[in-house]
This record gives sequence, C-alpha cells and structure tokens, in this order.
Amino acid sequence: MSDSGFPTARPRRLRRTAPLRRLTTQVRVEPADLVLPLFVKEGIDAPAPIASMPGVVQHTRESLRKAAVEAVEAGVGGLILFGIPAHKDARGSAADDPDGIVQLGLRDLVAEVGDRTVVMADLCLDEYTDHGHCGLLTETGDVDNDATLERYASIAMAQASAGAHMVGPSGMMDGQVAAIRSALDSNGFADVGIIAYSAKYASAFYGPFRDAAECAPQFGDRAAYQEDPGRAVDEAVREAELDVDEGADIVMVKPAVGYLDVVRRVRDAVSVPVAAYNVSGEYAMVEAAAANGWLDRDRAIRETLTSIKRAGADIVLTYWATEAATRLLRD
Ligand code: PBG
Repeated sequence: MSDSGFPTARPRRLRRTAPLRRLTTQVRVEPADLVLPLFVKEGIDAPAPIASMPGVVQHTRESLRKAAVEAVEAGVGGLILFGIPAHKDARGSAADDPDGIVQLGLRDLVAEVGDRTVVMADLCLDEYTDHGHCGLLTETGDVDNDATLERYASIAMAQASAGAHMVGPSGMMDGQVAAIRSALDSNGFADVGIIAYSAKYASAFYGPFRDAAECAPQFGDRAAYQEDPGRAVDEAVREAELDVDEGADIVMVKPAVGYLDVVRRVRDAVSVPVAAYNVSGEYAMVEAAAANGWLDRDRAIRETLTSIKRAGADIVLTYWATEAATRLLRD
C-alpha cells in the first residue's frame, strides 16, 4: 500500500496505450496456425451453400481448388478435406474407393497446392454410410469397434495413395491410430502422418456440420463412441496419451471453445503438437449473433481464436481460417 492507501501495483500501466498493449501481447494467432476444413461433394455443378453455416459451402472439384489456392495465398497453414459421396451404403464403400470423391478432391488439392501446404483428410465413415454412424454396425445396431478398424486402415491407404500428407481419424474407435499407423507403415506410407481426433466429445455443437457433410445418424446418437462431456478431463488426457503411444503425430481436442480446460491439460501432458477444432456450432453461433447485430463479428472471431491459442492449442481448425489470415489477424 502507498501512503494514500491505494495499491502500488499498477497492472493498468501496460494497458494505457495501443503500442504498450501491442508490445506486451503474449498470445498471437498466426495464419500458419490455422487449418481450413473444406467440403467437396460429388455430382453438383455449382458450390452449394450450407444454410446453418453462412459463408461455408459444399464445393465442386473446381471451386475446391480455388478455395484452396485462396487459403494458401492468405498464409493458412493447412487444409482438411471432407467428402460427400453421391451414394452411401452400410459399409461406406465410397470412403476407400480410389475414385471416390474424397480421393479425387485430395488429388486435386495435392496437384494444386501440395507443395505449399499440408493436405489432410478427415478419416471416418459417417459421411459415407447410409446409417450415418462412424463405423460398421452389428446386427443389433451397435458400432463394431474392431471391424471398423479394418475399414479405417483401408481408408487410410486410399487417402495416402491419393497424396494426403496426413490423415485425421475422427471416429473415436479404440485402437484406431495403431491400426492406421501399422497399415500405412507396412504399405510404403511411413511418411504419411496422423492427426488424431483424440479427445472428441459427443457434442451438440456438431449440428451444422451434419448438414454440411450430410451425415446425421439415422438412428441413435454417437454417445457410445464419443466422449461424455461430464467426464473429468483425465479421460481426455488418457485418450491423447494412448494416441501418442499408438503413433499419433498431432493430437486434437474437439470442440474447442467449451473444452478449453481440456486443451490446456492435453497441452501440458503430451509432447506432440496439439490441435483444437473450432467446430461448426461455434462458428454458427457467432455468425448468427453477428447477423442479428448482437455482437461485433470481427472482434468475436479474433477473441475466439485467441482464447483457443491461449488455452494451449498450437493449431486451430476453423472455418474462418482464410478470412482470419487475409484480414482479421492483420488489422
Ligand atoms: C466425423 C466428424 C464430425 C465433425 C468432424 N468430423 C461430426 C461428428 O462427429 O458428428 C464435426 C466438425 C464440426 O462440427 O465442425 N466425421
């Protein structure tokens, strides 16, 4: 205390002017930290807007290439591709078809920007199965973990053959990273990396994505394989550690905003880079509120990305990647 009785500590000193604040900022989001999720759909001849995700589209092969170039030129660090096939079946056959839409899209991306960015593929079955679950079903309608692993190994090979630099298993099957790593290694793809969705929660915030990827489960939900939001963070840490042991090169937490405690704990527990997925519902909330004039869109986006990095994410997957890299992080 000073003689006047006011505290002598004055943290406000560093907040007084914009240059002081700029000098002392400790968390910066760089374009290179960002990964842009992209959707490519089979059989459309113009990009199709997604109502619940204003500004995001399902791409044609041609518009996909353009969006990729735009992202890379803005400095975005990587791309992750989701495919939406014209035909779905119980096994998700289009997922590992060498001529399936996601493989065609990957080849296009690698040809267009493959020497300048990291091309990743989401590796799951839900966009490809007619029932919308992330794995093969047993007769009683449960997801069969180990039968699904064989499908994932085959999808990994198809994506690697199409040129993906990394594959991103997102189905939350036990042992998925090990199954994929061993398939890649024994087939000449030792250099293809794995960005593992390690701590993926059963979240309502994936709602808009299921419109984008046309993959809502036709019955039930994903609670038997995705994590329960009510579990202690230790479970997520364990999932991430298991994935690192199985060969994950990057681990991911998803969603991001409601799970910043998980991001921090995982960051502190592992020694590989940590990614966080700023998911479709988190995007849609900000877009909807901004469209109503209820919050300042630019500031809300910047603050969202900064918070995710401050929690410990090295990499942020976000639908705002290109815009943020082009404009928002430079203002
Ligand atoms: C599964 C997958 C999902 C998302 C990414 N990969 C959906 C789900 O688990 O239901 C969600 C992404 C988002 O909401 O932005 N293939």
